[in-house]
Amino acid sequence: MDINQVVIPAAGLGTRFLPYTKSIPKEMLPLLNKPALAYIIEEGLAAQRTNFLIITNQSKQAIAHYFAESTELNSLLHAKNSGGFLGNLPQVIQQCRFTFINQNEPKGLGDAISLARGHIDTDYFCVCLPDDIITPEHAGLSQLITHAQQQQASVIAVQEVPRARVSSYGIIVPKKQVSTHLFELADVVEKPSVEQAPSNLAIVGRYVLSTTIFKALDEIRPCAQRELQLTDAISYLLKHTQEKVFAYKIQGSRYDIGTPIGWLQALLTLALENPEYAPSLREIILKYAQ
Ligand code: G1P
Repeated sequence: MDINQVVIPAAGLGTRFLPYTKSIPKEMLPLLNKPALAYIIEEGLAAQRTNFLIITNQSKQAIAHYFAESTELNSLLHAKNSGGFLGNLPQVIQQCRFTFINQNEPKGLGDAISLARGHIDTDYFCVCLPDDIITPEHAGLSQLITHAQQQQASVIAVQEVPRARVSSYGIIVPKKQVSTHLFELADVVEKPSVEQAPSNLAIVGRYVLSTTIFKALDEIRPCAQRELQLTDAISYLLKHTQEKVFAYKIQGSRYDIGTPIGWLQALLTLALENPEYAPSLREIILKYAQ
């Protein structure tokens, strides 16, 4: 199975992080000295994917700017002997191919994905939602690709969530448990009520999808909020085509950086796991704990 492109929908308004996101995209929130989106790109690279399609809009130029080479900055830093300050960014830029696709109106995740259609050149492709940060040592996307290749089918990432939280997520309806962490799906439901949730296995923002999803996106109708839901298109695949879809319980911690508290949690975790930052941060925390 060939999987080339990684689609990253990054045109959302970032409403849960306003007013910060009025001028700065949430994908550019700092996690230590790198923007959150850099972690997603590195997760793609760890899965040997280098071709990124970023769905964005005119007000998010900062994203393209970050992933473009800046000869001016390079020579300024070189003159000051500070080239190393860019970390691995020059290598990342060199290894990757970035294509930016404009989503003029925020018409939902499904609409954002459908804009990638003309750019996908293999039967399967990946989707990474940049709100969901998975701890880097767990290489979230790699896990998913391995299982998609084994099953020769679409695979979506899931994690258990407390029942009270199910209405914030897409929730899966398992058909059968294939192995400890892998389920074949009967259906998926976007943000069900606590009472109606078919399980507590919630979709995490990593997907390997068959390109049949584009036909499904053509068939479904927008939800009550007038947005096209990716979850509804996956449900359509399951109900109206012969294609199977699997869910894999992804290993690793996942943080939703789309809210201030989720971002803070991701930031603190990454800092406490990083030998450069951990000692000073521990000192600061201990001072406040006294
Ligand atoms: C999106 C998906 C949802 C998924 C979630 C994961 O929702 O529609 O199925 O569970 O991402 O973060 P959003 O958080 O964009 O509302």
